[in-house]
Amino acid sequence: MKAPAPSDALVFFGATGDLAYKMIYPALQAMIKRGRLDVPIIGMARPSWSLDKLRARARASVSEHGGLDPASFDKLSAQLRYVGGDYNDPTTFDRLCRALGSARRPLYYLAIRPEMFSTVIAGLKRTRCTKEARVVVEKPFGRDLASAKALNRSLLAVFPESAIFRIDHYLGKEPVQNLMYFRFSNAFLEPIWNRDFVKSVHITMAESSGVKGRGRIYEELGAVRDVIQNHMLQVIACLAMDEPKGAGPKALRDETARLLKAIEPLDARSTVRGQFRGYHDEPGVAADSGVETFAAVRLHIGSERWKGVPFFIRAGKRLPVTCTEALVELKAPSRSVFGEKIGGRGQANHLRFRLGPDVAIGLGVRSKAPGEAMAGRQTELLAVDDGAGEMGPYERLLGDAMRGDATLFAREDAVLAQWRVVEPILGDKTPLHGYEPATWGPSEADRLTSRFGGWHDPKIAAPGRPS
Ligand code: BG6
Repeated sequence: MKAPAPSDALVFFGATGDLAYKMIYPALQAMIKRGRLDVPIIGMARPSWSLDKLRARARASVSEHGGLDPASFDKLSAQLRYVGGDYNDPTTFDRLCRALGSARRPLYYLAIRPEMFSTVIAGLKRTRCTKEARVVVEKPFGRDLASAKALNRSLLAVFPESAIFRIDHYLGKEPVQNLMYFRFSNAFLEPIWNRDFVKSVHITMAESSGVKGRGRIYEELGAVRDVIQNHMLQVIACLAMDEPKGAGPKALRDETARLLKAIEPLDARSTVRGQFRGYHDEPGVAADSGVETFAAVRLHIGSERWKGVPFFIRAGKRLPVTCTEALVELKAPSRSVFGEKIGGRGQANHLRFRLGPDVAIGLGVRSKAPGEAMAGRQTELLAVDDGAGEMGPYERLLGDAMRGDATLFAREDAVLAQWRVVEPILGDKTPLHGYEPATWGPSEADRLTSRFGGWHDPKIAAPGRPS
């Protein structure tokens, strides 16, 4: 098949915003450094800034996040344009089209608050600058199932599905892609990757920080919309999907969507929401906010492979550590040759995938403890990756979108399936429990895992030592 033509301009909305500052400018500099971005880059935002002011912001951004690379930054500066104006004002988009000049295949990246998506899409629709364009839409894609469908409709009125890239930066992470690679490229895994051998799956996304000044935005989200509906469910899809029936993006996205559609919707019994004490004092947070900063859920996948295997997810702010990890716990051997009773906590085999901030894979096994008795001890075979030379997720995904490669982007049916899973627990449909900062969330979450030996708290090793 002929490769799609690459985008010939990159336009990003939200150029003066938080996401651009923390992620996009550093990604653009990195893309330029690797020689992967040599087209005009147009920043769009509401303030009427000068181009020099935007360049200064970009410089501050890269200096703070990853470091300034003078040669690449000079190129970025030279490629950068700025169009400021109200997204409700059609002339803003007329000026954008003029700034695009001869570019015919721009990539529009909506790095803006979700409530502005429709306004910007309507603004783009009016112009004639969408014909061969692509669009990247930030997460969360909608606020619930109905709004996600509405957003799809408004996007599809302007762009074909093949030109729509729903970004979830977790899919741009090397260790997340490695979940799929590791599973499908090692023959030993597939025979045991099912309910006969797997006891439970635990995914933890812990952040020790609070909402880092994003209180106003976080108030619209909460942990379920912010990370469970998207990042965490994508990680489950990578861990649990069946082998794609062929190479190429379609086969992979088909299997991802099939798995997500098989996840049973959550309910109050399978969910515990929490809020850390002190959240109300964060700037932008309502004094009586009922928004969760922690969510723990128990998921079931309605497939032959996974029937009866619980998938536990726990995600929260102000937890004891910052770490994302998936741990697949295997069942104990069905009989004990040496008369040892194996199967208690920490005695079963496991596969542990540390997804960030450090990257490692651990295989928990038993081996004989020195001595006369045929008795064992638990040990972990560990492979650690130092991440050297890796592309950051935004660099990777923006580069893919520019080339028209949608493999690592969420498809319409997958996103809708994700909303169906969380829809019954959105907002205040389930009780909210308080928790102390630097703890593992409300104790009520323990009831979800009590029959399965409790939660697995990721351990953080001393600096310089593998964890
Ligand atoms: C974002 C969420 O998508 O992911 C943030 O909006 C969260 O709340 C962030 O902090 C975490 O990303 P990472 O890559 O640091 O794990």
